Amino acid sequence: MKFTCKQLASTLVLSALSFASFGQGNGPVHQVGNVSDVKINGQVVDLTTDNNGHIQVSVYSPTVVHVRMDKKPLGENFSYAVVGKPKQAQANITQSNSEVTITTDSLVARISKNPFAVAFFTKDGKVINQDEKGLTTSWIGEEVTTYKHMQEGERFIGLGEKTGGLDRRGNGYTNWNTDAYGYSTGQDPLYATIPFYVGIHNGLNYGIFFDNSYQSDFNFGASNNRFSSFGAQGGEMDYYFIYHTKLADIITSYTDITGRMDLPPLWSLGYQQNRYSYYPDTEVMRIAQTLREKKIPADGITLDIHYMDAYKLFTWDKSRFPNPAEMNKKLENMGFKTTVIVDPGIKVEENYGAYERGKQSDIFLKYTDGEYYTGQVWPGWTHFPDFTGDAGREWWKKEIKFFSETGVDGFWNDMNEIATWGQKMPNNVLFQYDGHLTSHKEGRNVYGLQMARASYEGAREHQPNQRPFLLSRAGFSGSQRYTAIWTGDNRSEDSHMLLGIRLLNSMGVSGIPFSAMDIGGFTGNPSIGLYARWIQLGAFTPYFRNHTGVNSKSSEPWAYGEEVTEISRNFINLRYRLMPYIYSNFYLASQTGQPLMRTLAIDYTHDPKVYNGEFDTQFQFGKAFLIMPFESGKNYGKVYFPQGKWYNLYTGEVETGNREEIIPISYHRLPIYVKESSIIPMQSLVQSTSEKPTDTLTVHIYKGDVNNSFVYYEDDGKSYEYQKGAYYKRNINYDARRKTITFDKVEGNYNSNFKNIKVMLHGFDDKAKVKLNGKTQKSQQDFASFIDPISRFDPQGVSNPREGYNVQSFVIKNDSDKMTLSY
Ligand code: NOJ
Repeated sequence: MKFTCKQLASTLVLSALSFASFGQGNGPVHQVGNVSDVKINGQVVDLTTDNNGHIQVSVYSPTVVHVRMDKKPLGENFSYAVVGKPKQAQANITQSNSEVTITTDSLVARISKNPFAVAFFTKDGKVINQDEKGLTTSWIGEEVTTYKHMQEGERFIGLGEKTGGLDRRGNGYTNWNTDAYGYSTGQDPLYATIPFYVGIHNGLNYGIFFDNSYQSDFNFGASNNRFSSFGAQGGEMDYYFIYHTKLADIITSYTDITGRMDLPPLWSLGYQQNRYSYYPDTEVMRIAQTLREKKIPADGITLDIHYMDAYKLFTWDKSRFPNPAEMNKKLENMGFKTTVIVDPGIKVEENYGAYERGKQSDIFLKYTDGEYYTGQVWPGWTHFPDFTGDAGREWWKKEIKFFSETGVDGFWNDMNEIATWGQKMPNNVLFQYDGHLTSHKEGRNVYGLQMARASYEGAREHQPNQRPFLLSRAGFSGSQRYTAIWTGDNRSEDSHMLLGIRLLNSMGVSGIPFSAMDIGGFTGNPSIGLYARWIQLGAFTPYFRNHTGVNSKSSEPWAYGEEVTEISRNFINLRYRLMPYIYSNFYLASQTGQPLMRTLAIDYTHDPKVYNGEFDTQFQFGKAFLIMPFESGKNYGKVYFPQGKWYNLYTGEVETGNREEIIPISYHRLPIYVKESSIIPMQSLVQSTSEKPTDTLTVHIYKGDVNNSFVYYEDDGKSYEYQKGAYYKRNINYDARRKTITFDKVEGNYNSNFKNIKVMLHGFDDKAKVKLNGKTQKSQQDFASFIDPISRFDPQGVSNPREGYNVQSFVIKNDSDKMTLSY
């Protein structure tokens, strides 16, 4: 082909232009740029860049660095998620021409100036996390993203309620609270947004919490090995970088920032019977009575939307529930608490009280022209209270008094993503955002959090010395301060049961310890085997909720035949006998954020096997139990025992760790193992937590080679008296080398329920002479009293211990002074 001079010239100009745009300009992508100014003020470094970047890097605590960035001067640091305050930290901040260096007791942050990029190192110089050079942080319009260099072998876990495997490497996720009815096992997003994850590589682990409520996107190397990234459709780049040597401590630091759950009411840890919906009142009573008659322990009954008059909130359907206060009283006398569903949508209907009062108080969400936003949900066309404003929350708090007056104890906040038929809520709906008026784009993801906050504060106000129970579907980081979260409308399928376990494990590692899934599945009907397996697993979920949809088969424990009734009873019984262990673990969650359902990644972070898809549903329930979930219908399954020794709960057979094994599986028994050196307090069987157990606490100790300790905690389980010292707390310690078990002196001034302690030693030498404070104790062989209540129903008969498995017990007085047992 021949060019004319003119053609040649224009081709040269074009290619020069395209070279320029390829090599220098970035089109619509606005890079953060080179640092042009640095101001150091105590723990805070303010930087500006030649590309209009405004950055603040501050030491939040010795282990946490807070990074904020915008392409305009930084605004007020307003956040619904964050309740923690920066701590005074010894930080040494210096700068050179090319870098600012921040050194704390725990880490070094190096900020390079050309371009702005931040990298975090251990004190001995190992890279923990670093911006991807060349990409760092950039904007496209209002969308902001930070790119992090992908470290060798890096894995990612967390991000709360997200489908997929435990290791999120290779995947991307979106946070946009969504009503995900009957979701698939790979669907994203679901109902709740927790923009917090943990990165793991080369023996190191760190956490990143991205505090931004716009729709956010996380990319953990989806289709690329170069970087991971996180960004949002608007707002600031605002993240907390957390470093600890132990992953568990990252959860504690993250919950220092976003808050922790209060101690829950004890009844909320018992078994909860739900369905969509139990009505009329006689049906509710029938369910309650049947639970009692069949001796299936339970604490809660939940009323779904049919209790309302035409789904209008703050009403009762008078023909179905003519006297709710009386019904709730009767239930209370039988040891049941009532939880009611509350949806945010208020029906648009003249003369309907809540609607009229809402209009009068002017608390409904509006469009920019001042018209109320109207969306369609159960009652038809509805308005939605703006929970992101004081006025909306105050209104709600007053309204829910309606329930406290009828003896309702729990509030189930549903449909609060916001869910409407058709799903698409317009972005020009305004949210008060507590003095920072904003659009749906920023308001949506925190709506559920703020609804839970209003419900929680209302319940506290109306019954100040009674712990409320709340359950919410939507949520955001910080929701744990007010509510438990459940995983919405799952399906009655094996894959959903296993997905549910991963979802709850992921929530646990992301600061939400109180979580649940619909046991048995919401849509469809489980097979008998699946139901049995699911209810067994349910006994090891934080909030034990059996629930099913409106068109599915009944899902009470007796709905699947006698054998399954027996299996369900066995495992619900076990849950109730474990209540002292469970409650003490919730105490821990309230103090440290540590979840009850622990993915193995928390304690075995750098063991690659725990991320293997074959094993990534295995979890610890507290630190003592290792639970092996399997789909129904399997006769054999492959399990992985992490490091240490593990006792088969039913037989005492000991498995050594770092090993895979094929185990037989029976549908009567969920495979459960107990970690060596475990300390497990248990009580006698009760039918609800309102019933007093016998006055003997049984403390099981499993012989092991490692030391262990357990914080035992007790209080009245319902009030806030514990805040005034009415609790009973002591450490129980097992010292493998010294051969002692010590019960430390009791703290607090609550009288324990238990006068005696029965110590049950598992796997110790049968000739071991046990001494209490130097005095020999008479012990007896006791395997049967331990195992009988766990496996009464088993076609193979009562469990036989492995040969030589020694379970020996003796009873001592529950003395509040220090007690030392030696053997
Ligand atoms: C949707 C919830 O996810 C489900 O649990 C409930 O039963 C229905 N709404 C009806 O209220």
